[in-house]
Formats: sequence, C-alpha cells, structure tokens
Amino acid sequence: ERYLQTKLYGRKLQLLSVTSSTQAVAKELAEEGEPEGTLVFAEQQTVGRGRQGRSWHSPPGKGIWMSVVLRPELPLRSAPQLTLMTAVAVCQAIRKVTGVESGIKWPNDLLVGGKKVCGILLESAGEDTRMKYCIAGIGIDVNLEQEDLPGHLQGIATSLKLAAGQTQDRAELAAEVLLRMEQLMELYQSEGFQPIKLLWEDMSVTIGRGVSVAGHQGMNTGRAVGLDDSGGLVILDESGALATIFSGELELD
Ligand code: BTN
Repeated sequence: ERYLQTKLYGRKLQLLSVTSSTQAVAKELAEEGEPEGTLVFAEQQTVGRGRQGRSWHSPPGKGIWMSVVLRPELPLRSAPQLTLMTAVAVCQAIRKVTGVESGIKWPNDLLVGGKKVCGILLESAGEDTRMKYCIAGIGIDVNLEQEDLPGHLQGIATSLKLAAGQTQDRAELAAEVLLRMEQLMELYQSEGFQPIKLLWEDMSVTIGRGVSVAGHQGMNTGRAVGLDDSGGLVILDESGALATIFSGELELD
C-alpha cells in the first residue's frame, strides 16, 4: 500500500461525498459497536461542527474533514489529554508531509503564522467513570484558496496550500495523521501522558506567551507556563499566582 501504514486506524473506512457532520456518522457507528480506528471521511460537510457550538466551514474537495472512533481503556477524565494528543499527531503529520511548521494553540488549534489551519473536536461518551468511546474530529484546511474562506474567516484562517505555496496530497496527509495517532495512542497507553505532554509543549505556540482566557471563573490573564498533569494550562498571573485553566477560549497577546 502506498498510503496507509497503520495497523488499525483507518482500516475500516466510510468515505462520504457529502454528509451533515462526520462526527454524527462516527458517533452512530461507535454506538453500533464499530471498533477502534474506524474512520469517517467526507469530501464535504453541510453542518460541520466546531468547538463551543461554532460551525466549521467544510467546502467540497479542499480539506480533510474526518472523524476517528477511539476506544481506549481509560477513565473518562483522560479525554482532555486525548485532545492534546490528537493535536500533536496532526502537527507532526503536517510537518512530515507538507513541511509546514504549524504550532499548537491551547488546547488544540493548529496555527501557521498566527492563522488557524486545523481544528480538533473530541467528544467522549462514558459509562460511569469509564470511557466507552470517543470521537476525534479533525478538520484541516488543506487546499483552500483565499476565496474559499468566508468573510468572517479572512485574516483568521489559512490553508496548507496557501502556507506552502502548492497543492497538498490530502490522502497522504490523512494517512500520516492516522499513523501518528495510532503511534501516540500506543505511547500514551504504555507510558501515560508525560511523553505526550513534552511533545505538546515543544510544539506549542502558547507556552511563554501572554494569554487571556474567558472561563467559568471570569477572565484569567497572565503568562502561560506549561501544562499540568491532566492537560490543563497553567498560567502565572501578574500577582505571581498560578492558575490552571481547563476550558475556554484562549487569546494570545
Ligand atoms: C474547532 O476548532 O472548533 C474544531 C473543529 C473540528 C472540525 C472537524 S471536521 C471533521 C469533524 N466533523 C465535524 O463536524 N467537526 C469535526
């Protein structure tokens, strides 16, 4: 096989020309008992979903709009760590296949020159405190042109094609993302979050920067200093106090 080098991930594949959201399709498949690594890939999504209730622009044939079923033997509370792990996998794959150096904005946006090229949406289902499955949704703006970006994304989003100056092979990139995800999941299961955390910090454009986050406890402003062991972002504020952020939308100064 020229492309897919995984043992499991992407071996069961549902390829759709158009769907509402690959997240919804993957969730149905997971509920029906489809195994770890089952992949749903769409050429176009009509109601692509982003984090925090936002929509995700998913025009036909230009991006990677895909969702992977994961069934790790883990507690439900490790979901945030899997989100960070997925960001590392995509960042590694983009570097390998396109040469574009993207950086991770906490928790899991990939930026090139300050503009977003990839978003990740991880949704998990639990049984008590155990993770039943989770769906890793990945949206990569691969070959979008400037005019494919709607007004509200102009200046905020970009694509790998725009960044690299040439059309990129979506199949090759998707296969590399799946390979990296499979490898990092093995690493996570054998050695825990620590090695993933180091990789994430290394690829981050967040650590060391001034940040502000609107969260449940109001506005947190300070310097991002690292990840804690659960995947939260540790911020040092002006008064010298440390705070850990677990959710919310981050602004980089
Ligand atoms: C974000 O940055 O807000 C997350 C965006 C996630 C988009 C992907 S595209 C494939 C999958 N299906 C969806 O509806 N959303 C995710």
